[in-house]
Amino acid sequence: MGHSFRTIIEPFRIHSVEPLRMTTAEDRSAAIEQSGFNLFNLHAEDVLIDLLTDSGTGAMSRDQWAAIQHGDESYAGSPSWFRFEAAVKDLFPFEHIIPTHQGRAAEKILFTVVGGADKIVPNNTHFDTTRANVEASGAEARDLVISEGHDAATIHPFKGNMDLDALDALLAERASDVPVVFLTITNNSGGGQPVSLANIRGVSEICRRYGVPFFLDACRFAENAWFIHEREAGQGDRTIADIVREIASLADGMTMSAKKDPFGNIGGWLAMNDDALAENCRNILILTEGFPTYGGLAGRDLEAIAQGLKEAVHPDYLRYRIRSTAYLGDALDAAGVPVVKPIGGHAVYLDAKALLGHVPALEYPGQSLAIALYKVGGIRSCEIGTVMFGRQPDGSEKPAAMELVRLAIPRRTYTQSHIDYVIEVVTAVANDAAALSGYRMVHEPAALRHFTARYEPLAS
Ligand code: F0G
Repeated sequence: MGHSFRTIIEPFRIHSVEPLRMTTAEDRSAAIEQSGFNLFNLHAEDVLIDLLTDSGTGAMSRDQWAAIQHGDESYAGSPSWFRFEAAVKDLFPFEHIIPTHQGRAAEKILFTVVGGADKIVPNNTHFDTTRANVEASGAEARDLVISEGHDAATIHPFKGNMDLDALDALLAERASDVPVVFLTITNNSGGGQPVSLANIRGVSEICRRYGVPFFLDACRFAENAWFIHEREAGQGDRTIADIVREIASLADGMTMSAKKDPFGNIGGWLAMNDDALAENCRNILILTEGFPTYGGLAGRDLEAIAQGLKEAVHPDYLRYRIRSTAYLGDALDAAGVPVVKPIGGHAVYLDAKALLGHVPALEYPGQSLAIALYKVGGIRSCEIGTVMFGRQPDGSEKPAAMELVRLAIPRRTYTQSHIDYVIEVVTAVANDAAALSGYRMVHEPAALRHFTARYEPLAS
């Protein structure tokens, strides 16, 4: 009677399983060499634990699979569309909801309309596709995260916060060149770090003062709201949905990838209150994605997302989600592996600069570490450092602010013993990190080079 237990369990049990294919170190050496030492080029079947991304890789629930059976594939005005629109508006009550096949399609449409030469788009930290879409329009993508956000080891409860003074100063000088201010929640490229409600209110106030629209890149809104619930004074008694609605009320619109918190395998949307902007965006939507009641999606996808949105804000799920990510991060930290702290929402970020101090940034220490994790233990991760962000719009190459390797945790997919295995592998690789050498890029595509580049190992 009255016991309380420490262990936070998965708030679900397994209903359908997928086999994992075991490989040997020899198999993996051959596979990574064949892939040009780019983990994106691997066959997924050659990966044991796939932590490349949390995007579209989560397990759907029984109720999502059931919802899929209700998918109505009418070209126009499908009931699946109306269920999707209602579920989105329940959390994000923007006037116009424009469905897209994924987040970057929403970005492409928005920046085609509002971007252009001589414009600046500030963000706490642009994600890679967001930066690329801003830059493809001719505009400048400027990151204004607080200074704590640049340092892997500094502890701050809301390390994704925007530097409000820097934003105010930029708008004081150039407001007419800023078509939109963005805030990414949680801040993916900066370590999956949350943004506080106070900071979101601050960004909103500044944007309203200068008459500049404020948009959210809200992929991981539920995880961000959970951090607000747990860490911000006065927020612990609110429901997650209530916090999310307040965040939406502070903004003028959003871009969204439904492949993250909403548990979609595909999907996204663009939303806004401005009628004229919505009209322009819908015109491009029809050209590039599809009719406004399905965008780039099948009716069944709209249904899966509508149900997923309801599950994403459940406190039992979010408590488990955030705790299970911290379980991995805390264990690596305790083993002496340098990680970005505090541990973020959807991923643990290894600090390759600290671990491979002997490998110069332009020899890609993060890539070297990610390759070693695959070769040693079949774990696929993702470099977030100079490979991803080093190439500049003027063609030069310079070191990124941080050299990170992201272990992204797919939602509801891996069990604690999978994660215990990851802890063992990462610790073993970290202990031998001094023996790892750098890489040279031998093929580099024009944009978003990390996806398709090829490398050669440099002699140690
Ligand atoms: N914004 C953020 C913050 C993201 O993390 C992503 C995708 C996008 C936008 C684009 O969405 O993939 O649906 O086109 N992030 C994935 C990741 C790919 O691995 O972090 P998308």
